[in-house]
Amino acid sequence: MTREIRQHYHLTPPRGWMNDPNGLIYIDGTYHVFYQYHPFDTVWGPMHWGHAISRDLCLWQHLPIALTPHSDYDQMGCFSGTSLYENGILKLIYTGNTEQGQHQCLAFSKDLIHFEKYEGNPVLPASSLPDHINQNHLRDPRVIKESNVYYMLCGGQSIDNKGIIAIFKSLDLINWSYHFSINERQFELGPIWECPDLITLNDENAQANHLLIFSPQSTSSLNQYQMPNLHSAVYALGMVNFQNGESDFSQPRLLDEGFDFYAPQIISNTNDQVILIGWLDMWESENLNRKANLPWSGSMSYPRVLSLKEGRLIQQPVDSITQYRDLAYQFVGSVDLATDDQNRFPFEMGIFSTPCFDLTLEVSSNDSNESELKFTFTDSLSLVYSPKQQILRLHRGNDQRTVQLDSEPLSLRILSDVTSVEIYINGGEHVMSSKLLRCLETPCAKETDTHSLQLSGKGLWHFEAFELYTLKFDPHSLEEAK
Ligand code: FRU
Repeated sequence: MTREIRQHYHLTPPRGWMNDPNGLIYIDGTYHVFYQYHPFDTVWGPMHWGHAISRDLCLWQHLPIALTPHSDYDQMGCFSGTSLYENGILKLIYTGNTEQGQHQCLAFSKDLIHFEKYEGNPVLPASSLPDHINQNHLRDPRVIKESNVYYMLCGGQSIDNKGIIAIFKSLDLINWSYHFSINERQFELGPIWECPDLITLNDENAQANHLLIFSPQSTSSLNQYQMPNLHSAVYALGMVNFQNGESDFSQPRLLDEGFDFYAPQIISNTNDQVILIGWLDMWESENLNRKANLPWSGSMSYPRVLSLKEGRLIQQPVDSITQYRDLAYQFVGSVDLATDDQNRFPFEMGIFSTPCFDLTLEVSSNDSNESELKFTFTDSLSLVYSPKQQILRLHRGNDQRTVQLDSEPLSLRILSDVTSVEIYINGGEHVMSSKLLRCLETPCAKETDTHSLQLSGKGLWHFEAFELYTLKFDPHSLEEAK
């Protein structure tokens, strides 16, 4: 039996459309991922909250839909939000979208499966917002508890069309009052800011920093930043004082320098690790799955562990994927790509039976003037490294994304799944993600066909490490997990 074409270890919707991760939380050994979900079609529509769980962030099991948009205050969609787990109750905080504005709402569950909306919803109606906030754009609440006070960060827009993160406070999650905002005085970054998140992250000297994450819309038109995507997911490091409302942050930087990563959120309650998951897609980019007539569209990113090193964010894939690895090819040594007659990597590593692989390598060029190294994932997606300029380029069709590097050697960790590639560069200093659709492209006409990764280029290269693992998932556990 041919298995349906879908991701093996990235969360995808059973049917229909998925966008942002919502309410990410870890409870008693289980990760809960809710997500923006349109169950009836592979395009965005009235938003529900889908719900899936996993013990290892690789194999996923779908649970019943958690929220449906059938109340007056959310009739145009249950938009993004977060969750809290208190006294055995899982509390969802989400945005009810209506023609009259966007309202913040609550829903509760004792069994972590079935949710009841709070009878007093909305707890923060659009009509109660201060005058400087656009009532049609205030959404995606993230609630943080500090010294017995709840603070709710919402993304949105001010009435003069600037991005804003408005912070409200409450003692009971029910009665909220406006507290302060982070706005264009901090970052000049587009007209609407979505999906704010904030966490304390210690650096290598145990110094505490606040890591602020948000997703500003329409960033490609901002010339002062290098943000080539239409919309971007960014981070900034600094400090917010929740008591007096003062904040100070560094300039925002991209969380991902590839094509597809948006609306990421941190998993709550993970104690020792800070883990981030984003939507591995982008608004207004081509819906490849729909083009291929697949019954589902949208994928979560593989989860990333965040840390700080020398003032910058480091992102690395969570470790659990390593338990599914099978070593397929290993190599240490020098290769002269110029003398190889087909101008291909001269060893048998390219063909394997699954599109799922985990490749680690460290490489440097012997003559940077002439050299070039190219990884071809599919006909339309390739990665090219030019050591002379220290540039890494991800090409997709006629488009490209670039990362400027400092110096050699180059180290890469590449996680490939059926419809995505995520490239971690130099120990996680940069990440580039892209969706793809192998089944539409040669050489993989079907998912069951052999898959290849081709290396080609020019010049003499020295590989300090090259380890290619295929990722094997038991088809039964994948079926059960569906
Ligand atoms: C971000 C976003 C959120 C909103 C949701 C709607 O991708 O636009 O701001 O809550 O998607 O699906």
